[in-house]
Amino acid sequence: MELKSIFLVSILLSIHCAIGKEVALGEDYVRPQPRKTLSFPWKPKHSSEPQQVHISLAGEKHMRITWITDDGSSPSIVEYGTSSGEYTSSSQGENTSYGYLLYNSGTIHHVVIGPLEDDTVYYYRCGGQDPQFQLKTPPSQFPVTFAVAGDLGQTEWTKTTLDHIGLCKYDMHLIPGDLSYADYMQHLWDSFGALVQPLASARPWMVTEGNHEKESILFFKSPFQAYSARWRMPYEESGSTSNLYYSFEVAGVHVIMLGSYTDYDEGSDQYAWLKEDLAKVDRERTPWLLVLLHVPWYNSNYAHQGEGDGMKASLEPLLYAAGVDILFAGHVHAYERSEPIYKNVLDSCGTVHVTIGDGGNREGLAHRYHDPKPQWSVFREASFGHGELKIVNGTHAFWSWHRNDDDEPVKSDQVWINSLVSKGCIGSKKHEFRKILAMH
Ligand SMILES: [Fe+2]
Repeated sequence: MELKSIFLVSILLSIHCAIGKEVALGEDYVRPQPRKTLSFPWKPKHSSEPQQVHISLAGEKHMRITWITDDGSSPSIVEYGTSSGEYTSSSQGENTSYGYLLYNSGTIHHVVIGPLEDDTVYYYRCGGQDPQFQLKTPPSQFPVTFAVAGDLGQTEWTKTTLDHIGLCKYDMHLIPGDLSYADYMQHLWDSFGALVQPLASARPWMVTEGNHEKESILFFKSPFQAYSARWRMPYEESGSTSNLYYSFEVAGVHVIMLGSYTDYDEGSDQYAWLKEDLAKVDRERTPWLLVLLHVPWYNSNYAHQGEGDGMKASLEPLLYAAGVDILFAGHVHAYERSEPIYKNVLDSCGTVHVTIGDGGNREGLAHRYHDPKPQWSVFREASFGHGELKIVNGTHAFWSWHRNDDDEPVKSDQVWINSLVSKGCIGSKKHEFRKILAMH
């Protein structure tokens, strides 16, 4: 390892949130059992009290604040400022609600605030009343750190995963689908919102949809109604016409959230939007390109085997030509990391695929793997946990996966990833990329 990298490692190890021990690959491990779904005792609230507060990026230097009140006449206003209790700015937004069979949601408020300073703590309150919340905006330059965990649910394991993430120093949480596991029981969206509020009100949660967000009923309910009402992402800000796919930029990273459960073939709106979005990426400004989606394309687990093949066939050539560095997926309740790969062949200019559907949901872990392990699969393990991606600069990122070893986070897998820009891959792909962009 060159000196510069050794220096970077030592800095990272000193500031990284790698609380708990580290273990070597292959160490014997007794896997913990699934844990119970959390119970949320009913607590009476004032009808205008802000509940389920969460934040997400909403275009450059702006943040969307979302919360729910029981009271329909509560104002959609956020007051904010950089000193506690001193709200020097305010923004007004909009609200919505939805009905689902016998359930009626509270009033769902969405307010965009900004322009905001980068890497700055803001104090804010919702609807003109306390309590005060606190958020930190992401940095505009490297380093930037993402927490990553999908398939969260709301069990005791979910709580452990969230507690571990809460102990880390990170700028944003990326979630590749399957949030609440409400599965038609709408009040579970509300309990999930309450469970995640401490983290989701403080750092942006950027999500894409999984199958558990669908909740469609044939001829009666269209899919993703509750998800899109509650977890509105910056799709309009990124030129998309659907909350199911969008993109954003943060500190030298272009992040694309794709939809595994909407059309992705070459004639689809999603494909057309993706081509346009990729054509706009400037690798000088954003040397790193990340993608998140729900159903993995490289998966050696028996669970959900082959489910991502259709999307992979349609989109992998485009993502390869554009030079996607890392693709995060969920769905399979386990962890797996690949070598850089394209069309099932190891390729140093290919994408690193990470499956991280191990947030802690009630369905339990996916234990059974195909043997022997495929050549592309570097590390695989069926445990709950979360990942952290610290992008240090335009060339180096440090990825680590922390499993929930009982209640202690244990850093089990870690690797330095070099950007495709630094490997000289982007220039050599330009011709292929232009060819795909010119098609259709
Ligand atoms: Fe799923």
